[in-house]
Amino acid sequence: MKNSGLRHILEARQFTPEFMEKIFAEASSLREEVENGNYHGLFKTARELENRGMFILFYEPSTRTRFSFSDAAQRLGMRVTSTEDAKIFSSVAKGETLEDTIQVLCEYYPDVIVLRHHETGAAMRAAKVSSVPIINAGDGIGEHPTQALLDIYTIQQCLGRIDDINIMMIGDLLNGRTVRSLAYLLAKYKGVKIIFCSPKELGMNQDIISYLQRKEIKVEVLDYFLQDIEDVDVIYQTRIQKERGSEIDDELEKKFALVPEKVKKLNQNAIIMHPLPRNNEISTEIDFNPRARYFRQAGNGMFIRMALLKWMLSPL
Ligand code: NCD
Repeated sequence: MKNSGLRHILEARQFTPEFMEKIFAEASSLREEVENGNYHGLFKTARELENRGMFILFYEPSTRTRFSFSDAAQRLGMRVTSTEDAKIFSSVAKGETLEDTIQVLCEYYPDVIVLRHHETGAAMRAAKVSSVPIINAGDGIGEHPTQALLDIYTIQQCLGRIDDINIMMIGDLLNGRTVRSLAYLLAKYKGVKIIFCSPKELGMNQDIISYLQRKEIKVEVLDYFLQDIEDVDVIYQTRIQKERGSEIDDELEKKFALVPEKVKKLNQNAIIMHPLPRNNEISTEIDFNPRARYFRQAGNGMFIRMALLKWMLSPL
């Protein structure tokens, strides 16, 4: 790496529980400030990163990650330059490599580059040639570490703990990257049980299962929707990643979808999460169920990203 002292965010495994605790406390205090009307940047926190620059370089579509990073930066007083779809609107369309693009962008002295890319390992590659911190905002079917942070933060907020939880991850576990990063983070806590629940052909990769077993996390792998869910604390539903070649027929998709009658079996305090976007895997009637936390979960992303930017760009 050009400058190994840089605070890149590349993979979920890099976060320690102590670090997460600090970021979560910061995110909560930022939310409080924003909710108390500090949205014009009149108070101290807001302009702490004045005149720092963020480049958002996305080669894949995004709503939450792009908006929340962009707004997080602007609330902290940063300049933000963003490309809509780097595959079409950057020199990649002319054959430029990721490495060349990153090195050129670094010549404009941004303070951080947020990268989303269709190839697994792209953020690592970018970090090797970058002179500024890189944030991995999703690399193919690899990882999405900032999403995992906001997911863990949401669990902590809703349940008051991360230790000793039973979490059921449902859907496309093969080509979804959020479940991979979340599994890596959950492995840092005690007494966690993860139930992977997906159609056989979209099951969680063995590398994650072996990693969890080495970390003594209880793992159950099911190729049907578990009906006995009274002991589940967190349902983490995901969509089928069709753009990555995942395919299942409608009947099978329905079997793994959350509908009100399945949700009734959950205990009162259980929560339902989803990284979003959703397709048909959570029926919209569930949005009114008090256990549904996926919109709040998305909202948490902005505060987590503000907290991360403050940490990344503060003096070493
Ligand atoms: C996810 C992603 O891009 O991996 N979206 C997000 O950032 N919240 C999930 C998905 O696309 O299914």
